[in-house]
Amino acid sequence: MRNKKLFAFCAIVMLSAIGLLLFDGYRSVNHGETASQDELHGHSHDDDHNHGSDKEPHHNALSYASLVTSDAPIQPILPYEEGDEDVIRLGWVLFRDTNLSSNNKVSCQSCHDLNTNGAEPLSVSIGVNGVGKRNSLTVFNVAHNYRFFWDGRVNTLQDQIDGPVHDPVEMDSSWQKIVDYVTASNQYLALFARADLTPSEETIKHAMVEFMKSLTTMNAPFDQYLMGDSDAINESAVRGWQTFQSLGCIACHRGTNVGGGLVMQFGYFGVDSRGAERSNDLGRFNVTSKQEDKHLFRVASLRNVAITSPYFHDGMTGSLDEAIKIMARSQLGKELEPDTVADIKAFLESLTGERPTILEELQNEQN
Ligand code: HEC
Ligand code: HEC
Repeated sequence: MRNKKLFAFCAIVMLSAIGLLLFDGYRSVNHGETASQDELHGHSHDDDHNHGSDKEPHHNALSYASLVTSDAPIQPILPYEEGDEDVIRLGWVLFRDTNLSSNNKVSCQSCHDLNTNGAEPLSVSIGVNGVGKRNSLTVFNVAHNYRFFWDGRVNTLQDQIDGPVHDPVEMDSSWQKIVDYVTASNQYLALFARADLTPSEETIKHAMVEFMKSLTTMNAPFDQYLMGDSDAINESAVRGWQTFQSLGCIACHRGTNVGGGLVMQFGYFGVDSRGAERSNDLGRFNVTSKQEDKHLFRVASLRNVAITSPYFHDGMTGSLDEAIKIMARSQLGKELEPDTVADIKAFLESLTGERPTILEELQNEQN
């Protein structure tokens, strides 16, 4: 009897896994998106994808080379070296400027705190016209995502910026107003000149994107472990990493950002597991109005996840333990033992990197 049950369960898990892969292949074809196809074939190419070059870092070059050529499901974060400092500086100033919003009170930084984790501690963000409906995403390591926003509705960072600029519950502004404001400011004209740019919607977006791309959190203990330092994480985290793979979390949470690429159903194991307490946010459906896109969300990046609570698109829980249990239940149909949860948590904690060094540099420069 027990064996029968176990067999049935394994069959469900396997069929779901196959379904999941086919489903994503189908999605990729239909949406003309290629990233998930690549991920399907087991190797993520986010580094060439985002940096457009295969430049190797100076340190750890050997172990890095072996990692990029291998099919490693998770790859370490490398420094963003291509950025032009003058453009990044301009983006940094724009990012923190509240005058870009309609009431002059909200900047990108209001919801993406550069002093902490690039996100904010509220469940859902509050902008110019009050409360929004989604939890703020961190801008740290965004260069390594393939798709943006909780529902993965845009594919480039450039396009992503239109969202907050126009959104009435974020900055409630327009590009024309922002370009006029910037053009009327001597401080900005000097910053643009220094970066060899003239103010326009395009160059403003470009500067903000370059700034955000430079926000990488390096040297997470897990990255050091990947690069060959076997003492960089403790035994519990090593067990957690193994479980993360054997349970199947890795099927969705992979690549440099341990997520940030695929768009998947939240509540894979039926409506019940999504629970009555789930928000009525329909995810990708809101953008496409297609029945099959209901409750599809981008697989969250787990980089720095231990310091970016609350969790999920609606910030439904502030507890990482709880988030892990919810995932196991809703995405894999499994109930985890407390020890297993603790191990996975230790692994997730080892994904916390250092605050982006560029922020320190820009601040020092200003002082
Ligand atoms: C009122 C709060 C608020 C403001 C202001 C705001 N954001 Fe956001 N940001 C959010 C929320 C909430 C999300 C998630 C929205 C969603 O997925 O629908 C988000 C998502 C993002 C993402 C996507 C990250 C990812 O991994 O997909 C980026 C990048 C981003 N914001 C950058 C910016 C920039 C640049 C500005 C300023 C021009 C800005 N934000 C202003 C709240 C805000
Ligand atoms: C079928 C794909 C899939 C699998 C398998 C999966 N996840 Fe997720 N995960 C997601 C999606 C999609 C989200 C975003 C959900 C949302 O919209 O709130 C997410 C979000 C999370 C979050 C919240 C991150 C945040 O910043 O809010 C954590 C933590 C997490 N997953 C951990 C895990 C763990 C641990 C496992 C294995 C037990 C796992 N996931 C398995 C797809 C998956």
